[in-house]
Amino acid sequence: MSKYKELQNAFIDKVEADEYIGLDTSILFYNKLMESIAKPLKMILLFGKPGTGKSVLLNKIYHDHKDERPLFLISTPILSEKEFLHTLYRFLFQGKEPPEDLTFNRFIQMLHAVKDEKHIIVLLDEAQLYEPSTMEKIRLISDTRAIKFVVALHKTDREDLIAKEHFQSRIWETIELKNGTVHDAQIYLQKKIVQKNFFEVANMLTKRNVKLIHRLTGGNYREINKLMYTLLEIYDYYEKNQPSKIAAPTFQNKYIEMAGLKLGYIHA
Ligand SMILES: Nc1ncnc2c1ncn2[C@@H]1O[C@H](COP(=O)(O)OP(=O)(O)OP(=O)(O)O)[C@@H](O)[C@H]1O
Ligand SMILES: [Mg+2]
Repeated sequence: MSKYKELQNAFIDKVEADEYIGLDTSILFYNKLMESIAKPLKMILLFGKPGTGKSVLLNKIYHDHKDERPLFLISTPILSEKEFLHTLYRFLFQGKEPPEDLTFNRFIQMLHAVKDEKHIIVLLDEAQLYEPSTMEKIRLISDTRAIKFVVALHKTDREDLIAKEHFQSRIWETIELKNGTVHDAQIYLQKKIVQKNFFEVANMLTKRNVKLIHRLTGGNYREINKLMYTLLEIYDYYEKNQPSKIAAPTFQNKYIEMAGLKLGYIHA
């Protein structure tokens, strides 16, 4: 297998904490979110376009702090409201099974009863998938202060609306993740490649290459992954079939453009 083919794996979307890359901006957001969690807020909204690193950030925070405090992560929305309440109940009472007939009102009463001794933090990813009625319940649960929520959702017009209706009047904080700068893209790419020990390939990546990649992807990490995956596909092909085409010591912008064309970032 060519090194390019092997390296493609590094650019498949993953949210695992052990592959987290501490970019200047991601460290900033990490610290910001940890500070917000420490404040007496009921809810925190983590906002941002798809592919800006919300899930990666939640996973990293969960991984780093779950052993030192009551912190829980719901990566995939639990769409049954009953199952959702049961899950919160188990988080709150160390895995104890909830009573079968647990109603929402009963749960709220329980939260009021324990709110002085219990304060747990629940990270809710992909929250745009919850029904507005569930979001409303989440809001009411957070009002008891027994459970603090970090709600991650991606930004679309509809989600703006959800945010408006359900949270606007609440005590809460918004953190918005953004696409990376050229500098972020540079560090991201270098570290991704070096993480897999492909030092030679890391050395092939020039500032000009990174600038073009950033321009084509807008600095969105998911788009950078896709572009790199496709670029490595092209290099793998040439390595096997026409190695003279990739004899240059650096990545060539024409192949980056070819990858961009293939992905529809550039229109021929
Ligand atoms: N700090 C980082 N370290 C390592 N990889 C990252 C980082 N930030 C983003 N990525 C990469 O970008 C990809 C997209 O990030 P992520 O899935 O967290 O986006 P998202 O904001 O949750 O998107 P969506 O709104 O679609 O759920 C990840 O699979 C990962 O490969
Ligand atoms: Mg996500």
